[in-house]
Amino acid sequence: MKKKIAIFTSGGDCAGLNAVMRAVVLSASGLGWEVLGIENGTAGLLENPPECRTLTPEIFDTTIMRQGGTILGTTNSRNPFEYKMPDGSVRDRSDELIAAFRALEIDYIIGIGGDGSFRILNKLMNKGGLNFIGIPKTIDNDLNMTDYSVGFDTAVSVATEAMDRLQPTAASHDRVMVLEVMGRDAGHIALTAGIAGGADVILIPEIPYTVENIAKKINKVQVSGRNFALVMVSEAVKTPDGRKFEVVYHGGETRYGGIGEYLGVQIAQATNSETRVTILGHVQRGASPTFNDRLLASALGVKAVDLLRQGKFARMVAWHNMEVIDVPIDHAISECRTVSTDSVLVRTARALGISFGDT
Ligand code: F6P
Repeated sequence: MKKKIAIFTSGGDCAGLNAVMRAVVLSASGLGWEVLGIENGTAGLLENPPECRTLTPEIFDTTIMRQGGTILGTTNSRNPFEYKMPDGSVRDRSDELIAAFRALEIDYIIGIGGDGSFRILNKLMNKGGLNFIGIPKTIDNDLNMTDYSVGFDTAVSVATEAMDRLQPTAASHDRVMVLEVMGRDAGHIALTAGIAGGADVILIPEIPYTVENIAKKINKVQVSGRNFALVMVSEAVKTPDGRKFEVVYHGGETRYGGIGEYLGVQIAQATNSETRVTILGHVQRGASPTFNDRLLASALGVKAVDLLRQGKFARMVAWHNMEVIDVPIDHAISECRTVSTDSVLVRTARALGISFGDT
């Protein structure tokens, strides 16, 4: 029997979202099912008329799978339970949203999101008794129960390339280069791109550091005869005395940013070296997806449709040990998957002589 899937992207964008949609649309069309794309997360359904469109395989025959961003648009600030209205008031619009899904005669819902989105969606789907599957995406790679989320590999590639570009200029000017990358509360991007990009020091929120230890490592590099050093820092790293670096935007929203500048000054003083800072920011999110992200997106999208076909709901598809699995969505959002301090990558970095600023 023909079924109708609603799909949307939710939370911050990243590379690979369009590739996920392509996989869902192509495999659903193989079953003779229809896919309806909702615009701007679930917020599109709260508009009158609803902002949604049928996604056909033909749409994905073009260049879309290769593009960053999301053709459906997304948002990380329109929680239906605390919806900010244009007049500044806040309303619970969850019942309206559930009614909108019903009015469109949606059988199944696929949300492509991170932990924040999945917490809200899980609550919504439970409340409305809707049949939901989550597909993990986040450059932060901090979703529990999946080794990788869509977007992480591309973000790491961009950060690694930034290190490759900083190295020659660091060497030409005898400088210490500090690169600040995203990652919210987990240091996966900094750790992975730090190793791949040849960092001398990697600072992540999971490992406390001192400026003295960073300076010790940089001095050691200089004494060994190398005239430059590369420092990778994750945006959520605090000052040694626990101060966060946050930018407060209009409306009171906060985002991390600025620890790199702070450390640049500290490192310059402590090592007497010329130091420069680069904050990579959203450049990590908008790239064309790497082949790994395209493959992950494809495998997870196909699996999501297969779960719906089997009548399995309230699950998140996940990548684990070179296989696609599915896990209860409750488990996926139960905690943030931060960097384990005895993980293989931390041990590898230490064995390579990379300092975390802790010794
Ligand atoms: O969660 C993804 C992420 O890019 C984080 O790494 C970063 O802290 C945050 O989103 C930035 O959010 P926004 O796009 O709202 O500035």
